[in-house]
Amino acid sequence: MTKVFLIDTDTASDDAIALMMAMRAPDVHIAAITAVSGNVDVQQAASNALYVAELCGVNIPVYVGAAKPLQQPNFHAYWCHGPDGLGGHGFRPERTAPEAKDAVEAMIEAISANPGLTLVALGPLTNIALALNRKPDIVRDVARCVVMGGAFCGGNVTPAAEYNMWIDPDAAHIVLRSGLPVELIGLDLCHGEAILNANEIAQLESLPGKLGQFAVTCNSQARQTYFEQNGTDGLSLADPVAMAIALFPSIATRWSEHYVEIETESELTRGETVVDRHDVATDERPACRKRFAWNGRLH
Ligand code: BDR
Ligand code: CA
Repeated sequence: MTKVFLIDTDTASDDAIALMMAMRAPDVHIAAITAVSGNVDVQQAASNALYVAELCGVNIPVYVGAAKPLQQPNFHAYWCHGPDGLGGHGFRPERTAPEAKDAVEAMIEAISANPGLTLVALGPLTNIALALNRKPDIVRDVARCVVMGGAFCGGNVTPAAEYNMWIDPDAAHIVLRSGLPVELIGLDLCHGEAILNANEIAQLESLPGKLGQFAVTCNSQARQTYFEQNGTDGLSLADPVAMAIALFPSIATRWSEHYVEIETESELTRGETVVDRHDVATDERPACRKRFAWNGRLH
């Protein structure tokens, strides 16, 4: 049976691989891609998504969304993904352009037209929060909301916070309180065995066709940054981990459901994902309980 996806993305190099995974999945129809500001500015994010769609030979409408977080300033991740988010190799769409309609409106329409769809969030949650503010009852029509975000054992942009949550904690707060059936795929799942080592990168690069080569080339800056930070050749691909679980939920073997809040105020811990792992809090609102995929190292 065909599954309908709506993908919200701040399209940089790991988002690009996640998009390719969904675009190549035989049982997935992508109703729309909505671009959001994050790793790169929102116009670049839309352009990168269009480039990936052209490379995959699919025609998917791409909409431009929020140009900045709800309250925080922009802080693009060029240091990690290169000047255009795709390693700075000049990848640009040749034939296609973004749709004129605003991404938030397009998101509301796509969800209403496809009850039961899977919403996959690969960037800051700004667009989704704006859509919820405009039409809160869209939550009824979303079967799964798979979010790459959060870090429960240390962040990647501050000691406390993962990038997507840190950039727009106010949006994350709205989304987590909305009643959407959120599945949080945190950074912790993207370490360890999820890191592509040099051999695996070489295998990917040598796959027939253009996609494997592109996946490695567009991540050249991410690979360099990983080396500088860790002293080994490898690639940490957060968004593809989330997309893998969106496509094949059973690969996440450990799930648990807890209350969660995102810190929005503190200078020290802004964007921290506060998970009530030991269920010490009480809250009457079931909407606040969220599912988490864990990796084995935490137990
Ligand atoms: C997240 O931030 C971005 O750099 C990646 O695209 C991913 O969505 C990981 O913290
Ligand atoms: Ca991303």
